[in-house]
Amino acid sequence: MKFSRIVGTGGFLPEKVVSNADLEKLVDTTDEWIADRTGIRKRHVAADGETTCDLAEVAANSAIDSAGIKNRDIDLIVVATTTPDKVFPSTACLLQQRLDIHGTPAFDVQAVCTGFIYALSVADKFIKTGSAKCALVIGAETLSRIIDWTDRRTCVLFGDGAGAVILKESDTPGVLSTHLHADGQFEELLHVPKGISQGYDAVQNGEAYIQMEGKEVFKMAVNTLGRIVDETLAANGLAESDIDWLIPHQANTRIIAATAKKLKMSMDRVILTVSEHGNTSAASVPLALDVAVRDGRVKQGDMLLLEAFGGGFTWGSALVKY
Ligand code: UT7
Repeated sequence: MKFSRIVGTGGFLPEKVVSNADLEKLVDTTDEWIADRTGIRKRHVAADGETTCDLAEVAANSAIDSAGIKNRDIDLIVVATTTPDKVFPSTACLLQQRLDIHGTPAFDVQAVCTGFIYALSVADKFIKTGSAKCALVIGAETLSRIIDWTDRRTCVLFGDGAGAVILKESDTPGVLSTHLHADGQFEELLHVPKGISQGYDAVQNGEAYIQMEGKEVFKMAVNTLGRIVDETLAANGLAESDIDWLIPHQANTRIIAATAKKLKMSMDRVILTVSEHGNTSAASVPLALDVAVRDGRVKQGDMLLLEAFGGGFTWGSALVKY
């Protein structure tokens, strides 16, 4: 039986920072409102011309270094993104070219904020079935490009970034389980209403921006993440107390706190980075993992529960022995 194991992590946030105080000058909001309702203090925004692939490349190189592997060892690239550089080729193919890797499968996964969990699950299955031995799995976004910076309900929430892991074949278990779900019936609660197949005019007319019914999404997220915690623990025959670290999608501190409560976990066992970069969609889980690995909180052998909820709706979890 083959297993997959995370052997390296990386993350990158673009240099430009937009603080809550900066947003007070743009829309009718306050630092107090944003911090109280979301936990967010600042977000990073890609510079003009800086693309999702640019962010992904830095995160990828950092993960490759930390894993101590060579680019040529990578035989699969999966990039989770909702904000690709081009309609095609995929961001994974653009990245493959930059990393001077040739011939390996490379493709994007689009599951919005759950994208990284989807990508990790796909890569895990490639490795478990013997189709790959060493995968580069990335979540990377430039959500700032699909934000209406005059809409206070959404512009305060999101940011840009990239996180990456190297997933390698192993004789001992690393990724213990993944659970993926989607329910398209909630399309209108969280979406970008226009896309390429509706014509470039619609996109150029300023209609290709994130729209969200925040309160509804909040309630669904809390309930759904509670259910996926139960599903993950039951599938692995584990109790709440077996989880060392919760590494959640970083959308809102209040949603994360509700999931921690469900796990009977104190917040000091939760990796919380949302205050530093807001909701970076597919990048948020691998960014949080990278922070916790680098600052020494997550150690080899720790049991990690990764989870996310996002547009689609999509949601999912990964139970990982680090
Ligand atoms: O990653 C994908 C998943 N996404 C999420 O998980 C996001 C889920 N939703 C949320 O995190 C929260 O619902 C929000 C942070 C978006 C909103 O928080 P809320 O506590 O649900 O606030 P609300 O939408 O009920 O709005 C409360 C009030 C409203 O004013 P009235 O109608 O009570 O007068 C809003 O107009 O706050 C107002 N408001 C703002 N005020 C200052 C909304 N946005 C802002 C703002 N600054 N930026």
